[in-house]
Amino acid sequence: MKYRTMGKLGIQSSAFGLGCMRFNGPASGDTIIDEQKAISLIRRAIDGGVTYMDTAYVYLDKTSEIVLGKALRDGYREKVTIATKMPLEAVHDQASMQELLDTELKKLQTDHIDFYLMHGINKQKWEAFKAIGAPEFFDDMKKEGKIRYKCFSFHGPYEEFEYILNDCDWDLTQIQYNFMDINNQAGTKGLELAYRKGIPVVIMEGLLGGRLAKAPANVQALYDAFPVKRSAVEWAFRWLCNHPGVSVVLSGCNEGEQIDENLRIFDTVEPGIMTPEELQLMDNVREAYLSRTKIGCTGCRYCMPCPNGVNIPGIFSVWNNCSLYDTSPRWNWDLKQIREKDNGADHCIGCGACEAACPQHLPIIESLQQAWRELTAE
Ligand SMILES: NC(=O)c1ccc[n+]([C@@H]2O[C@H](COP(=O)([O-])OP(=O)(O)OC[C@H]3O[C@@H](n4cnc5c(N)ncnc54)[C@H](OP(=O)(O)O)[C@@H]3O)[C@@H](O)[C@H]2O)c1
Repeated sequence: MKYRTMGKLGIQSSAFGLGCMRFNGPASGDTIIDEQKAISLIRRAIDGGVTYMDTAYVYLDKTSEIVLGKALRDGYREKVTIATKMPLEAVHDQASMQELLDTELKKLQTDHIDFYLMHGINKQKWEAFKAIGAPEFFDDMKKEGKIRYKCFSFHGPYEEFEYILNDCDWDLTQIQYNFMDINNQAGTKGLELAYRKGIPVVIMEGLLGGRLAKAPANVQALYDAFPVKRSAVEWAFRWLCNHPGVSVVLSGCNEGEQIDENLRIFDTVEPGIMTPEELQLMDNVREAYLSRTKIGCTGCRYCMPCPNGVNIPGIFSVWNNCSLYDTSPRWNWDLKQIREKDNGADHCIGCGACEAACPQHLPIIESLQQAWRELTAE
């Protein structure tokens, strides 16, 4: 495992951080987490050298912190740092923030949280956090030793990231970033701004939630033609770790084999490791993905809820996936669900509430109609 210095904090972390948001249930489609399996995955990662564990109050129906707390018994807590998060929706004043933090400490079976994050903020949420005194609360908790670092995770456009980053004395930030998202959300500009300020950056969605692990045929052809053979996952992580501003790359793993593969990859990756030919390959791969991407929806859900019940990100995700992987919408399980729940684009009345909220400025109304025509054509 490669370890990196976390910017101005000066402490070391494993480059691979375990995301605790995607543990599965015992059987496919189960919503209840398979606790024993999750505990063994967590310990497998730690035994392999992972020192950064990422969870949140709301993950997995509020059970992720509990399972992580159990996994960190028997001496494992001392081997790792814990990152967890405060959701704006669960707090409204100092007392409720205190209650929430104490609940999280109890669930995690620990007396302190290393990295405490305001969860998934944009400018609007940041202003709301400020209005209820969250920055002062985090500072007080640092003094009391209940948290070590004041942090935030971010989903929004670059301009809002820049504003938030410069508006407070942050210890760390977590952003969505991968080789497809260079100009999306905080993007490369955001990563470099944080790097210049010495603020460590933790990466989420490094594989776009798993999509970049499964190369479509035109992408696979590029990987196959390259003289050095690597898996799609390795290319994605290698590209991320090439940047010196990346402190930790989170990956949510569901299988022991995924942990093992990621441990192997993170044994080899260092800043500046990519050759010009490799960087060119990743530019070509990005173009190949984009050439088959129907719409640049990132699933951020700013457009939701739709007043007429249209599952906008769900429809766009099916549309993109059918195009990327050349599969028929007829057999698509997500589309079946959308139709069964009556969340189709046939309910769109063109009110435009979604377009006003979309940070990517997508032509949602028109695209929904096109997507629905293509997806429902017999
Ligand atoms: N703060 C926030 O707002 C926020 C938002 C999103 C995520 N997060 C955090 O960031 C973490 C990372 O994000 P993410 O889970 O979306 O990460 P990700 O790395 O983009 O996607 C994780 C998925 O990638 C696949 N995967 C991982 N390793 C693999 C391997 N070696 N081979 C094949 N597939 C592999 C798995 O997909 P399958 O399950 O399909 O096998 C896994 O569920 C989350 O777990 C969570 O802790 C935070």
